[in-house]
Amino acid sequence: MTLRRAAALVGILGLAGCGGAQSPLAPAGEQAASIASLFWLMMAVCGFMYLLVLGFLGLGLWRARHTAGVGAEPNIDPADRGLTRTLLFWAGLVVGGLTLLIVGSFLVDRTIAQARARTAIEVRVTGHQWWWRIHYRDPVSGAWIESANELHLPVGRTTRVTLGSADVVHSFWVPNIAQKLDLIPGLQNVVDLTPTRTGWFRGQCAEFCGAQHAHMAFDVKVDTPAEFDRWLAGQARAAALPTDAAAIRGMRIVSTGPCAMCHAVRGTRAVGRPGPDLTHIASRRSIAAGTLPMSRGGLQGWIVQPQAVKPGTMMPPTPLSPADADAVSRYLAGLK
Ligand code: CUA
Repeated sequence: MTLRRAAALVGILGLAGCGGAQSPLAPAGEQAASIASLFWLMMAVCGFMYLLVLGFLGLGLWRARHTAGVGAEPNIDPADRGLTRTLLFWAGLVVGGLTLLIVGSFLVDRTIAQARARTAIEVRVTGHQWWWRIHYRDPVSGAWIESANELHLPVGRTTRVTLGSADVVHSFWVPNIAQKLDLIPGLQNVVDLTPTRTGWFRGQCAEFCGAQHAHMAFDVKVDTPAEFDRWLAGQARAAALPTDAAAIRGMRIVSTGPCAMCHAVRGTRAVGRPGPDLTHIASRRSIAAGTLPMSRGGLQGWIVQPQAVKPGTMMPPTPLSPADADAVSRYLAGLK
């Protein structure tokens, strides 16, 4: 087996995965670290008991083979004090193991609940088939700033994410940072995320929600607080105005053509609501909820033939001439 295949197998088993960018066992958040320690405690307690059971099973088999009178009724004396002591020892071991698991589980729940008492950055995440609408509360103005499919968090601070759904049940999970929680239509769930190191991570929908469930991912960027503030201030601004002729034509096509029925680009006439906000689309790392890396070619392919990229997506194909597709992708690629 090649090294790469071995690594893929380990990834499937959930013990690594995506270079650590999506692994509950490579914690980069307070909540995930606490859950990972509970995982290892359960692994240790249950593994120890499992090995003991296998050991005694082996011993029993070995003794049966090497002792005379195989098949005879076992001769158990109820007054045998050695037997009573052994049984008490086993019962104590089981009770002790279970007590460890209960205490560990209680401590993890407490760590997760404690974050709720802190002041936090407010974020709203709404699940759609098959992408994520994300709103950030501007700490200065109090206004909500809309984005999609990429979550930015400041390191060392708690972000409170209120989860809702626009259609079916989804599940929000950033394995490296915190536990998963469902997005349920008509209900609001709240999860706190407290990242402990900076970097890129991967989040995903963890509840089957239709044909493109597997393509409902999102990028998570943990920044320093100063970087986060700078990034949020950038997201609050209206879209950049294009300067070259092709991009200007692209803006006209986007803001007066069919794109504007579903998408908003703040500062232009495109104010559609059903699809993701495109005001700063080129600042994001991927297209279509983690389906394609961000590039002009990717944008063109996605706009002209979305059903080929993500069959079943709500995004309809947009028949554009090659020149128009080029103009639109030039415009969108400038929306940093
Ligand atoms: Cu949304 Cu699975």
